[in-house]
Amino acid sequence: MSSTELEVFAVCAADDIERGDARAFSLSRVTEAGENRPFPIVIVRTHADGYFGYVNSCPHEGIWLNFGEGNFFTPDRAFLKCGRHGSTFEIETGLCIDGRCKDKSLEPIALAVVDGDVCVCGVALVEDHGVPNPFDELDDTMEIMIHPD
Ligand code: FES
Repeated sequence: MSSTELEVFAVCAADDIERGDARAFSLSRVTEAGENRPFPIVIVRTHADGYFGYVNSCPHEGIWLNFGEGNFFTPDRAFLKCGRHGSTFEIETGLCIDGRCKDKSLEPIALAVVDGDVCVCGVALVEDHGVPNPFDELDDTMEIMIHPD
């Protein structure tokens, strides 16, 4: 794959995540130096059927959001929250609106839904078992959802 092509990796079936829910994935990415690094992410599916992806690491101390009880959300499920200290984040922007990292943001990940799969875009991931990415051929048919910063 040349550096000008968009890297797209399928992570899960879109329907594997219920509306109003989220799932964490422990992926590995390839750094520019060619080394593999852990890449934990969370993908949220909203009630309005939007998908939002973030690195699963709170800006305060890097704790994963679902730390502890495994919950990603505030009790009313209106916001994401840090499982350790309770900072709350807007689901659709990743902005922390209350807590120890107020005004900082989760690191967004560009997602696309391709043929019923949620895919991570623009990040070189380590593929399992060397299986080629089935979406390498698709480059102009995807609906890319890139978050505002
Ligand atoms: S690690 Fe999330 S608020 Fe402290």
